[in-house]
Amino acid sequence: MASSNGPLRVAAIGDLHVQEDSVAPYRELFAEVSNHADVLLLCGDLTNFGKTTEAEILAEDIKSCSVPVLGVLGNHDYECGQPEKVVEILRGAGMIVLDEQAHEIDGVGFAGVKGFMGGYGRGELAPFGEPIAKLFVDEAMNEARKLENQLRTLRTERSVAVLHYSPIVDTIEGEPEAIFQYLGSQRLCDPIDRFDHVKAVFHGHAHHGTYEGRTPLGKPVYNVAQFVLKPLTGKQYTVIEV
Ligand SMILES: [Fe+2]
Ligand SMILES: [Fe+2]
Repeated sequence: MASSNGPLRVAAIGDLHVQEDSVAPYRELFAEVSNHADVLLLCGDLTNFGKTTEAEILAEDIKSCSVPVLGVLGNHDYECGQPEKVVEILRGAGMIVLDEQAHEIDGVGFAGVKGFMGGYGRGELAPFGEPIAKLFVDEAMNEARKLENQLRTLRTERSVAVLHYSPIVDTIEGEPEAIFQYLGSQRLCDPIDRFDHVKAVFHGHAHHGTYEGRTPLGKPVYNVAQFVLKPLTGKQYTVIEV
């Protein structure tokens, strides 16, 4: 384990999409990660449809990981309309599911939310007109606010933001431009650049995106969707020292 002053080896993988007919899909991988990292981040779309049977399969594999597992849900984990049940099962296996409260491990803070869509720059949807349009934008604003609140509570010199949706465009490059606004929201980026202690950002969701990008203030952002990592590195996860 890293000391509170030394670098922490942070492993991350997104878009696990565990299906109900999978047999121990991540057991070996999590055991391997335990040998190469001090903490494992799961960046959403943990299940394929948000079914409890899928969550139970993943929960079993999480138990094979000997380092702390933290993460957030993705949109797929909401599909069956029971994300709280998915969370309950994963927490039962020891996973720290981030949403409202930040967590600290060996001197490094972790703040996480699923995030939401809404777009970037000129493509950003504004809270204007119909109530449903305002509600849609509210969701992204709420997620950004939750992230900001968590980051504000941290007293660590280094912290990590964990997301499912992307806060920047760089890491979704490779996807069709027509769907950029569904892949994330620029609003998630504001809290990240507001706090100096944020040293790295991890997200998933953009299966055909780009591995690395930077926030406007230069903070590294990693798209760790396994479908991005595997063709690039031969591994489904990445390890970054924070
Ligand atoms: Fe996904
Ligand atoms: Fe997703």
